[in-house]
Amino acid sequence: MNATAAPGVALDEQAAFLRTLAEKSDGGKLRGDYAHADAAYVVTQDWPACTPAQHALWRRLYARQAALLPGRACAAFIDNLERMQASAGIPELAVASIALQQATGWTLVAVPGLVPDQVFFEHLAARRFPVTVWLRTPEEFDYIVEPDIFHDFFGHVPLLFDPVFADHLQEYGKGGLKAMPLGGLPYLARLYWYTIEFGLIATPAGLRAYGAGLLSSGGEIAYCLQSPAPQRIGFDVERVMRTRYRIDAFQETYFVIESFAELFEKTAPDFTPLYARLQNLAPLAANALLPDEKVIAPT
Ligand SMILES: [Fe+2]
Repeated sequence: MNATAAPGVALDEQAAFLRTLAEKSDGGKLRGDYAHADAAYVVTQDWPACTPAQHALWRRLYARQAALLPGRACAAFIDNLERMQASAGIPELAVASIALQQATGWTLVAVPGLVPDQVFFEHLAARRFPVTVWLRTPEEFDYIVEPDIFHDFFGHVPLLFDPVFADHLQEYGKGGLKAMPLGGLPYLARLYWYTIEFGLIATPAGLRAYGAGLLSSGGEIAYCLQSPAPQRIGFDVERVMRTRYRIDAFQETYFVIESFAELFEKTAPDFTPLYARLQNLAPLAANALLPDEKVIAPT
């Protein structure tokens, strides 16, 4: 997640949204350089400093992941990724931002890494998406502890070109700011996790991935659609908000939306009464299946 976790982020379940930056950093161990960040945690992307080896690593990451997309990623993701023309090297965020702003009014801002919840929500609410500036090392090709620029850019930015998805993410940011004094962040974190990061969508051609954690993962993108091990069930806001998740392994449950319009509509209501109800309900395990729930078959 930018404030967001890539698969395997080594923070506890609530970390992405519950803690302040200092708490998240586990004593200041976050990887990014926060020394030059402004009050909104924005930094300047020193793109000219990217080395040929880093651009080459980006190309390898991009090529591996792009080859996995056909038949697995939703069409909007594939179409917009191609439109971004980002295969040749680490993208210059200010340049990529121009096309995005023309398309949906979103811009990209460079950040050192994970940012505090409130800062993250304020960016989203203002249609700014924070993108981590550093790239993983070659040794982290398959596994990255914190989200890097490949996860944030490749995984998240293509769907910001989709008008409905773009509106949804802005509303999510506004909802986060409203949820903070209501004790709603644990529930919103689960919603983000099971949609923006690990969501599946039903299409006429079959199930497809739209979550950034899936689309930037070399292994889970096939597992989430094809493995018989995890369960796939229809999206329901309250169900999702009750469900714990795994951060150290592939997901045990994926929630399936019918369209981005469904996601937008179902997450638009004021969640204040829902948070109050959820606070009196026990959370569900990541692999829970309720008696009336139907499991959707893998593709
Ligand atoms: Fe993410």
